[in-house]
Amino acid sequence: MDALGLGPFLIGWLELAVRWFHVIAGIAWIGSSFYFIALDFSLKKRDGLPDQAYGEAWQVHGGGFYHMVKYLVAPARMPDELTWFKWESYATWFSGFALLVLVYYFNASLYLIDPNVVILSPVMAITYSLIGLASGWLVYDLLCRSPLGSSVWGLGLGGFVGLVGASYGYTLLFSGRGAMMQMGALIGTIMAANVFMVIIPGQTRVVADLIAGRRPDPGIGARAKQRSLHNNYLTLPVVFIMIANHYPMMFANRLNWAILAVVLIMGALIRHFFNTRHQGQPSPWWTLGASGAGAIVIVFLSWQGSNLAQLEQRAASFPPVEAQALAHAVIETRCVVCHAAQPVWADLSGPPKGTRFDDPTLIESHRQKIADWAVATHAMPPGNVTDISDEERVILANWLRNSKVEGVMP
Ligand code: HEC
Repeated sequence: MDALGLGPFLIGWLELAVRWFHVIAGIAWIGSSFYFIALDFSLKKRDGLPDQAYGEAWQVHGGGFYHMVKYLVAPARMPDELTWFKWESYATWFSGFALLVLVYYFNASLYLIDPNVVILSPVMAITYSLIGLASGWLVYDLLCRSPLGSSVWGLGLGGFVGLVGASYGYTLLFSGRGAMMQMGALIGTIMAANVFMVIIPGQTRVVADLIAGRRPDPGIGARAKQRSLHNNYLTLPVVFIMIANHYPMMFANRLNWAILAVVLIMGALIRHFFNTRHQGQPSPWWTLGASGAGAIVIVFLSWQGSNLAQLEQRAASFPPVEAQALAHAVIETRCVVCHAAQPVWADLSGPPKGTRFDDPTLIESHRQKIADWAVATHAMPPGNVTDISDEERVILANWLRNSKVEGVMP
């Protein structure tokens, strides 16, 4: 494809449009799911409720009062009209998958593959990614249906170990960024498949039974509840992964999988805080304290897993002007093929993220970004396609440390 042609330009717009849609669908899905969880927990039993009713809640919103009544299995008579909640989840998954294809599969050599991890062809990387998504769901679904599935804690622990193991495994196969996004896609797929393969089919069966005058199997509701509990606890981590792919100190980090493990625990703790609160019980403040401790652990892990600790030890000292000239030469040889007004790298229609280094003043004005993406971490060059060496990163570190922003231009 002609890098400066209409094609990449249109793909850029398509990506933005799909991303917009994906975020909105995700808001609708997570919003309705948070709403129903809070509603569920706020239900109160009282005398005089209709038969089969489990509890009721009164709510006020948007200028009106709502009287919600929950029927555990189903009401005695089916209402004529029933609103289903499923398209929020399906639309989030489809748009997310489209984004995965547009961003990660179309640019597999930049985002998915790191030849320093494993040399893969784009087709192989994409195949592994797809197999990972499908098999991840199958393993999870089997776990839920296995004897372990009857223990909330056993299954929770098994699921946690499985997810952390998967994310560690993916870091041995993909680039840091690819591995983390693969985890986001995997968790998102499990959540959407829970809706599509378990929750909605179960509910459809209950409705059909009721219409036919059969007594629905209460096990169906129990299974749906298990899956929706998992979705509840996975919501915060999955959103974290989706936004963390813009932060190299998370994804381009040797310990990214361990950071994700802490995020999984923090996400569950924070959800637990709100779940308990919505049940009208005393707020478990300890969960917020523990999440705060988790945040400190994450910062520690990301410092340890970055290059900063080693660079500190290897710092040699160059006179500032020399450091600057050397550093600019590194940027010109390793970065400017892509980060220029007219990139030479195939398939780039313009400088990535509008970030250009084809002029010394531009390099100087992007010092912090260069530090974050190419020195503190190995996020750039992607998959080290331009073969930057560790020595060159040390040169960049010296320049960043020693020369002032207003330093002499080479
Ligand atoms: C093969 C092409 C390529 C090379 C070579 C390359 N980059 Fe990048 N760079 C990209 C792409 C693509 C992105 C966009 C990543 C994204 O979507 O988050 C990017 C993003 C960045 C960003 C983030 C910009 C922002 O505002 O989000 C910085 C900073 C950066 N690169 C610095 C560098 C440095 C420094 C080098 C050289 C050491 C380098 N890049 C080499 C392709 C390249």
